[in-house]
This record gives sequence, structure tokens and C-alpha cells, in this order.
Amino acid sequence: MQSLLNKKIVLGISGGIAAYKTPELARLLMQEGASVQVVMTEAAHQFVTPVTMQAVTGNPVFTSQWDNSIANNMAHIELSRSADVILIAPTSADLMAKLSLGLADDLLSTLCLARDCPLLIAPAMNKQMWEHSATQRSVERLEQDGVGLLGPASGFQACGEVGMGRMLEPAEITEQVIAFFQKKVLLGKKIVITAGPTFEAIDPVRGITNHSSGKMGFAIAKAALEAGAQVHLIAGPCELPTPLEATGKITRTNVVSAKEMHAAALSEMDCDVFFAVAAVADWGIAKPAKEKIKRQGKEAPTIEFVANPDILQDVAKTAKNKGGKPLPYCVGFAAESSDLEKHADEKRKRKGIPMIVGNIGPDTFGSDLNQLLVIDDSGSKKLAKAEKLQLARQLIALVAKKI
Ligand code: C5P
Repeated sequence: MQSLLNKKIVLGISGGIAAYKTPELARLLMQEGASVQVVMTEAAHQFVTPVTMQAVTGNPVFTSQWDNSIANNMAHIELSRSADVILIAPTSADLMAKLSLGLADDLLSTLCLARDCPLLIAPAMNKQMWEHSATQRSVERLEQDGVGLLGPASGFQACGEVGMGRMLEPAEITEQVIAFFQKKVLLGKKIVITAGPTFEAIDPVRGITNHSSGKMGFAIAKAALEAGAQVHLIAGPCELPTPLEATGKITRTNVVSAKEMHAAALSEMDCDVFFAVAAVADWGIAKPAKEKIKRQGKEAPTIEFVANPDILQDVAKTAKNKGGKPLPYCVGFAAESSDLEKHADEKRKRKGIPMIVGNIGPDTFGSDLNQLLVIDDSGSKKLAKAEKLQLARQLIALVAKKI
């Protein structure tokens, strides 16, 4: 799936060592289907060459406002008129100060002043420069002007110091540009999601779990963030990175057992939507052993199970009427081996939830693909086989209409 298909991006580069990552950024944006037109400041030439950027993007690179090879010599106007967004990465402290004051003394700054499209900037600078009150004034002004800030992150800096000011990684910037273009149907909403498997300990080294990869739940978290929501993700044991973490709009609680997931979910119920995507163990171990259970000849131990709490059902009971609608709006998932629609709908009614999503087909565990059957009071709707993120976006669009 290419999430930036037909998008035209003007990629600005200012002078900073992080510019060595910009060719990679251009490549990732293009892999997502965007066309990339590069504009560089003079200082940027010290870190990456126009030839490099031309070779990577396949487009001529603009470096000067005095370029008489352009027919009407109006690059500063033309470039933004045909762009969907201007993205500047890296954006130096100097350029941020200029943009915040509306200065326009080279092609990139003039282009930004003359633009009629949105502007996203990925700051990159030494931590003292970032923390300086002058730079923080620039940040404030730029945000007031509607400029989108991507990062910066905290971490190791080229100067040897550690702190705020690192440019986000190209993959993170690309994710945020993709998010920028998604419809903000959940703006101002809080979404809680359970994802992944649970693990029920038998003893300190053994336990019972399942094949859930967490991919569907994490995809829903990402799609909700892209739609403008604040997200809390409650994850069972899985290796997946927190989606769009650099936006600062997602928090995560890692849990192990179903009981821990239950407690974590119930403590987060002041939200608008609850997605129960986790594959929760139906039974926990009654008395997990404190020490590793030793082998005793050929005799197998007897393990006693106890029923785990039903997280979704208990959350559904907490729903309160807000503005005429019971919130949180609860969405469950169902994996059935037969009669999906019938069993899933029975489950929906039993758990007292307005919507349930059935996984169609047996190949969903661990896969990047899925196909879904969405069931609510009005009937059922099939979402055809697609990448989990694509399905998650469709699901978010459906749920957003309900709240
Ligand atoms: O009852 P069953 O496991 O088939 O239902 C699946 C749905 O219920 C999923 O949405 C799952 O996350 C949720 N669930 C839960 N707590 C449990 C068991 C299932 O939240 N203990």
C-alpha cells in the first residue's frame, strides 16, 4: 500500500548535519508514492549535494531564487502552487527564526512565505540551541501560524552532547507526513486499545499464551492517531514498537496477564472508544508456582485453571451517557472457526457492546493482511482483504460516525 500516492511534496533542506539523512527521507517518501521536489539553502550544500538529491528524486533541485533557467523566474511561487505540502528536514534554528518572522532572503524562505499549502518542519539542532528562549519563541510563533512541528527527538547529537534537538528518523518523519494527510475524524477524542496476546504464568519460566502478534491492535492505534485521537495502548507481550510515538499523542502500558490487562483497561475508561483487540486468555493459572516446577519422573503435574475476567464485558458495563450516547463506544473482535456472522453477533449481544469485528479466514495471526466483517445493530459490512493498517483506517472511519 502506498499512503502518499499522487502527493506532491516540496522537500526543503537547510544547513545542519542531519541533512545527511534527507536523501533517505526522500527515498521513503517516494516509496510511499509521493513525488519529491527538493529546494536547498546554500548552507545545506555543506552537508548534502544537489546532485545527490537530484539522483535520488529524479527531479531538478532548486537552490537559488536567481535561477534564470526557470522560464518565468518565479520558482518561489510555482513550487508551492503545485505542492500538497512543504516539508523542511532538517530545519535549522536559523531557518526557524526566519520563518517565524516572515523573513524571505533565499529561495526556501521566500517559498515558505509565498506558499498556499501547509508547512511541516523537522527541527534539528544542538540542545542548547533548541532550548534557547529565542528558538522557543520561534516554535511558539510557528505553531500559532499553523506550521506543523515534527519532533525534534531527544538523543545523541553529532556534537557529542545528549538532549533535545535530534531530527526524527526519516521513517518517523515519513509516518508523520502520512498521518498529516489522513482525515482528522477523531480529533479531540480519546481511544483505548488492548492488543496482542496475554501470558498466564505456570511458574517463573513457563506459561500459556497464544499466537496473537498484536499487529491488528497496533494498526488500529496508528490509524486512530492518524485520525487525530489521543491513544492509550494496553499491550500484552509483543515486540512491536509503539506507533507514531514521536507525536507524543500515544501512551502505552505493557502488561503480561489477563488480570493485569483487565486492571489497566478499567483504570483508563474515561475515553470515547474502547477497542478490545487483544487475544485474552480465557483461563489463568489458579496458583502459579513461585519456583520452577521440577520434573518428577514420568508424572505430569496437574494444573488448575481459573476463569479470567472478561475485560470487554466489564468495560462495556462502565459506559455512561455523554451527550446522548453511551461512552466509551465498545468494539470487540471475534475469531471464529465457523459461522462467523452468527457467532460474532451472539458474542456482541452477550457482551453488551454495540460493534464487533470478525476476522474472516484463519490466516490473520501474525499476517500483515486481514479481512474483516463489521457487525453492529444496523447489520454487517465486509471489509475486503487488505493490509491491517488499511483496514484499521476503514474501521476508524466507521467508528468515528458512531460517536
Ligand atoms: O470471548 P471471546 O474471547 O471470544 O471474545 C473476543 C473479544 O473479547 C475480543 O474483543 C477480546 O479482546 C475480548 N476479550 C476480553 N477479555 C477476555 C476475553 C476476551 O476483553 N477475557
